[in-house]
Order: sequence, then structure tokens, then C-alpha cells
Amino acid sequence: MTDADTPAAAQRPAYPMGREAGCPFAPPPEYRRLRDSEPISRVRLYDGREAWLFTRYEDIRAVLAHPSVSAETLDPRFPFLTPGDKVSKQAQSFQRWDDPRHATRRRMLMPNFTIKRIEAMRPRIRAMIDDIYDRMIALGPPLDLVEHLALALPSSVACDLLGVDYSSHEFFETRFAVRLDRRSSAEQVQRANAEVRAFVDDVVRSKYGANKPDLIGQFVTRHVETGEVAHEDAVTDAMLLLLAGHETTANMIALGTLALLDHPGQLDRVRADRGIVPNAVEELLRFLTISHSMGVRLAKEPFEISGQAIAAGDGLLVPVAAGNWDDSVFAHPERLDVTREARGHLTFGFGPHVCLGQPLARMELDEVFSTLFERFPGLRAERPAGEAAFKFDAVFYGLYDLPVTWDAEAAREVAAQHAPEVVA
Ligand code: HEM
Repeated sequence: MTDADTPAAAQRPAYPMGREAGCPFAPPPEYRRLRDSEPISRVRLYDGREAWLFTRYEDIRAVLAHPSVSAETLDPRFPFLTPGDKVSKQAQSFQRWDDPRHATRRRMLMPNFTIKRIEAMRPRIRAMIDDIYDRMIALGPPLDLVEHLALALPSSVACDLLGVDYSSHEFFETRFAVRLDRRSSAEQVQRANAEVRAFVDDVVRSKYGANKPDLIGQFVTRHVETGEVAHEDAVTDAMLLLLAGHETTANMIALGTLALLDHPGQLDRVRADRGIVPNAVEELLRFLTISHSMGVRLAKEPFEISGQAIAAGDGLLVPVAAGNWDDSVFAHPERLDVTREARGHLTFGFGPHVCLGQPLARMELDEVFSTLFERFPGLRAERPAGEAAFKFDAVFYGLYDLPVTWDAEAAREVAAQHAPEVVA
């Protein structure tokens, strides 16, 4: 008998919860109701099983950092959110390992993501953004900001960092899109995964004996060719980096742009003061929480959180979006306020698995939001925010497309003034 067969379980709220019911920028409104009434509650998963849902900031952090909590998905008790989810997590990247083996692999990758290393990429990233803007200006309005900027930039940056040929971007982007769409069947996810795996396998193989300077090249030289890491594991981790490196930041660029256009007072502040942009980026990360359903774990051993006993084998759901809108931590969380102290947000996760690529994501977002509105005077969405193509069904929240327009002549003038700076 599954949990679903009991009358009480049939009445449990279903998880994941959708954002459709409320403001599309906001987390599912149900989180707030639960946080106020039953902050640690039982919910029902697609396969009829039950899990604990945590909606308070402090509890979410406590679960994510707890030593009795596991991220490993090979345990049959792991609370998968969809049938496709179950398939895509069969090959486990180090994101799905527990310490100490997780920490060992993470340490091998960490030198690539230090603030110093990422800062050194800034001039290249600026040049990539300038190229992208030039192409957008040459094409002229209207165009889809998701395709031409939001996906194009992080995808080029991830390829550059990892040593993947950018001309293949459409191939892997379309396959990852299937994998990240909650509506995809297990078979569709399996096929997309196999195709992308074969592609990344070739990339990893091409680095053997070559001592290439890119991330995958150096990883192969230092850890795979030495026998420390198996080829198959290197492929799985490279897939994670390629996916995490572009899809997340892409959604933040698109959704962040729409959110600012929809809050003109906040946009004016960003336009008026370049210095405020890093803070605005933190607030956008908090407000939008594109990693909205991330944070799924399994209890390895019994423990207690805020007086609630958790048994070994219990599924644990810690949606970081709920923590980011906890009003005991962020007053009036529904207000986008680019001057707010938002850096404690949980959008990059918390605990041992906290996002490895956060310095890179922050830099890309900083560069985009400090230049986009200046380079495209009169930038506006073609459709009102309420009618935008929100990714209600995806693992990372964002927009499927964002048709925009701008004052083309003014943009060409700004580009002309800007050009000598680029050359210099
Ligand atoms: C706005 C952009 C991004 C967001 C919101 C984001 C969010 C997250 C979150 C929430 C986690 C933790 C997942 C969990 O606990 O299960 C995570 C982990 C991770 N992220 Fe990001 N990420 C972003 C950008 C990036 C970039 C650009 C890269 C790399 C190029 C990256 C690489 C990773 C990796 C490797 C992990 C696994 C870390 C571990 O398990 O130790 N992310 N990310």
C-alpha cells in the first residue's frame, strides 16, 4: 500500500506547487499559507508517496546543512518530483553525492570558480556581451531577448569556460530543455539525456593527451588521465557543469529584465547608479528565485528540526523560494527593492552543495544589468508582464521567450559612442 491509499494522504497538498495561482514573479502562494499555519507539513508526490515540506527560512537552511541529510538519488526512497526526474538522476553527478566523496570532487573543481579566477574572465565576458549587443542592434527590433541575449551569453560563457565548441549550442540547449521540462515523459528525458551524454563524452575524449587549458581539458589532464577519476564520472560532471552553467543564468537574465521593466521605479534606480547593480542582482535573485523547486533531499538517519521528528528514509522538500519570501527574514518580500540587503538569500542553495558557479553567475548578471538599459534606450517588452511566457512547468523558473523592442536609432547612436571604448 502506498501513502496515497490512506484517506489522510489523499487530502495532502500535491508537490511541486505551481506559481500560476498568484503573481507570476512570486513563489507559489501556498508556501506562504503553509509557513503561517504549518511550516513543516506533509505533501503528496506524483507517485503517491509523501514527503516533508519546509517553508521557513531557518528550517530550510537547517535541513540543507544537516549531516543526517542526503542528496544521493540512488536510494529508492529518494523523493523524485516527476518520472523524468527519476530518469535524469540515475547517472549521478557529484551534486548528487554526499560527503566525503562529494567534498573531494568539489575541491577538484573549486579552483576554477574562485572570485579571482572568475574576475579574470570579466574582460572576455564584456567582449562577448558587446558582440551580442552589436548583433542585436544589427538585427534591429523586435527580437526575442531569450534567444539573442539571455541564452546566448551564458551558453557562450559556459562553452568558453568548459572548452565546448559553441557551434553545438542548439544541440545541447534543446536536449537540456527537454530534460528540464516537467511535462517531458521518462522516455523523452532518457533519449535527450543519452544524446547529450554522447555529445559530452566526445568532448571529454577530445581532451585526452592534449593538456587543453579549458576546465574540462585541465580536469582530464589532472584527474582523469592520472586514474583518479573515471571517464564516465568526468562525463557526468561535465554534463552538470554545462547544464548548470547556462540554463540558470539564462533564466535570470530574461526574468530579471522583465521584472525590472515591470517595476519602472526600480529600473530608474539601476539606470541612475551603476554602483547599485550588484545589490540589485542579489535582490533579483531573491525575488525571482529561479531555482524554485531545488532542494530535494532524503533523511539518512532520524533527527529533529524545530521540534519535528524526522525518520530515516523520509523525503525532505526544501524549496529555497519559500525561504526567500519568509517575511521574518525579508520584510515585505513581495516588494522588489533593489536597495534591500538581500545577500542572505537562498537562491544558490545552502550547505555543502551551495552553488559552485555563483561568482560566475553574479558577474554575468552584473555585466548585463549594468549595460543593457543604457545600450538599448527605450527597451520594452512587446507583451505586458502578465502575458509573458513563464516557465511554469520547468525545473528552473524563467521565460520561454521575451519579445522586446527599443528605440533603434538611439541604440545605434549609443553603439557608435561605445565603439571606440571597445577598441581601446
Ligand atoms: C543564476 C544562476 C544560478 C543559480 C540560481 C544556481 C543555483 C544553484 C543551486 C540552488 C544549487 C544547489 C542545488 C542543491 O542543493 O541541490 C546549485 C549547485 C550547483 N551549481 Fe549553480 N546556479 C547558478 C549558476 C551556476 C553556474 C553559472 C554554474 C557553473 C558554471 C553552476 C554550477 C553549479 C554546480 C556545479 C552545483 C553543484 C554544487 C555541489 O553539489 O557541490 N551554477 N546551483
